[in-house]
Amino acid sequence: NKTENQILVIFGASGDLTARKLVPALFNLYQADQLPDNFVVLGASRSDMTDSAFRNKVVLESTYLKNKLENLEDDRVKDFASKFFYEDLGGSYDTDYGRLRKRVEDLKNKYQTSGNIIYYLSTPPTLYETIAQRLSDAGMGTQNNGWKRLIVEKPFGYSLDTAKQLNRGIQKFFKEDQIYRIDHYLGKETVQNLLITRFANSIFEPLWNRNYIHHVEITNAESVGVEKRGGYYDTSGALRDMFQNHLLQIVSLIVMEPPISDAPEDIRNEKVKALKSLRVMKTDQELFDHTIRAQYTKSVIDGKEVKGYREEEGVDKDSTTETYAAIKFFVDNWRWKDTPFYVRTAKRMPTKATEVVIHFKTPHHQVFQDTGLDSKDNKLVIRIQPDEGILIKFGVKVPGQGFKVERANLDFYYSSLAETHVMEAYERLLLDAMQGDATLYARADEVEAAWEFVDPILKYWEKGKDVRMYGYAAGVWGPENSNELIDGIGEWRNPGPS
Ligand code: BG6
Repeated sequence: NKTENQILVIFGASGDLTARKLVPALFNLYQADQLPDNFVVLGASRSDMTDSAFRNKVVLESTYLKNKLENLEDDRVKDFASKFFYEDLGGSYDTDYGRLRKRVEDLKNKYQTSGNIIYYLSTPPTLYETIAQRLSDAGMGTQNNGWKRLIVEKPFGYSLDTAKQLNRGIQKFFKEDQIYRIDHYLGKETVQNLLITRFANSIFEPLWNRNYIHHVEITNAESVGVEKRGGYYDTSGALRDMFQNHLLQIVSLIVMEPPISDAPEDIRNEKVKALKSLRVMKTDQELFDHTIRAQYTKSVIDGKEVKGYREEEGVDKDSTTETYAAIKFFVDNWRWKDTPFYVRTAKRMPTKATEVVIHFKTPHHQVFQDTGLDSKDNKLVIRIQPDEGILIKFGVKVPGQGFKVERANLDFYYSSLAETHVMEAYERLLLDAMQGDATLYARADEVEAAWEFVDPILKYWEKGKDVRMYGYAAGVWGPENSNELIDGIGEWRNPGPS
């Protein structure tokens, strides 16, 4: 696909995301010759900055580009930097965008970018509606002279109600097909590969249901704590920060029915259906039995003292925000009836890893006695990160007399394919939006369906601040009783060497 000429306007451009993710993604696209011929970036925010100060900040002196720029010819560095411009919004996003409009017009004329514009909102979500309205007031949303698209970052809502308000608020000024809600997990190759694994092969899909799958387990572990984001995180927590968006996106790809084609709406329709079929927990008993949350406490990791969550900067010392969340749930549809799903996410785990484990049932009739195999032994492990790959675990006969069985692995590593450049999440997603492909962006109804499921859990936890709240020493696999949730099945599978 050739990407049409366009302008990218980034609101909140002086923030961390622009320098850390967006500009490096643009740089990779530049190096891969995937930016349009005529293309400029206009950063906009409340800080007072010149074009050249902005270029220095996000390109020439950026720590996130340092390694990439080091070996590049000066001309290329200059050429890339010359695409960046900056416009000070004058202290507030809630202002007349006449000047901004003028600047965009000038850039458009000077660089022949056409009237195609992406507005990337990298601001707090409380400003989304205001910015959308101000753009619209200034006539900058109209598509008469080129398309206009709006990319919005997470968090998309704080609850079901606020997500709905946010959707309605933006939709007053931009049509749904102009709105791109980014979820960077969908930009990960291995997350997209869930679709290929299931629907481009015939060996998994026939088994992909309640008849053969015993349970599904997803672990998302991070070794870091809340880093410098204590203030934000304390108003969010693991369920809002990771589960409602990234993990439910993965769930939807595992649960969904085959789409009729790879057209964006065909895929997104099936994802919405999948999310709507998650059984929303209603009773306190259910919520008690199926949820566990916890906070990391201070500890020593590799000889270094590590703070507990409540001691982190920006975190309330009596905070009840969870840094660990584990949820058990069911999917009420034909395919998944009665198959439990177990999903957990946490900070300050022993390692950083995300994986999906499909646990298959034991054969319904045991021909061989005492094989030593049990329900844990036929597994499909999809490593989302790191060591991206797919592992199949099964039993093989031990050579010799009788029918002794040994566990064996078939293990595929993505790195064996990685001669070509593997696109990073933001790079892939930005390019998709530039080309108008919304497949890997979340639609309004998708986000709301995910909130429908999460909302009762948050409400239950808010009601009883101590209910299902535990502690775990930073650097271990969660609270001591975390296996309670998978009662009757055994224990969580901790990512690591197979
Ligand atoms: C972000 C969360 O969306 O995802 C962070 O806000 C988290 O808290 C990050 O660290 C994890 O992303 P990744 O790609 O490193 O798994």
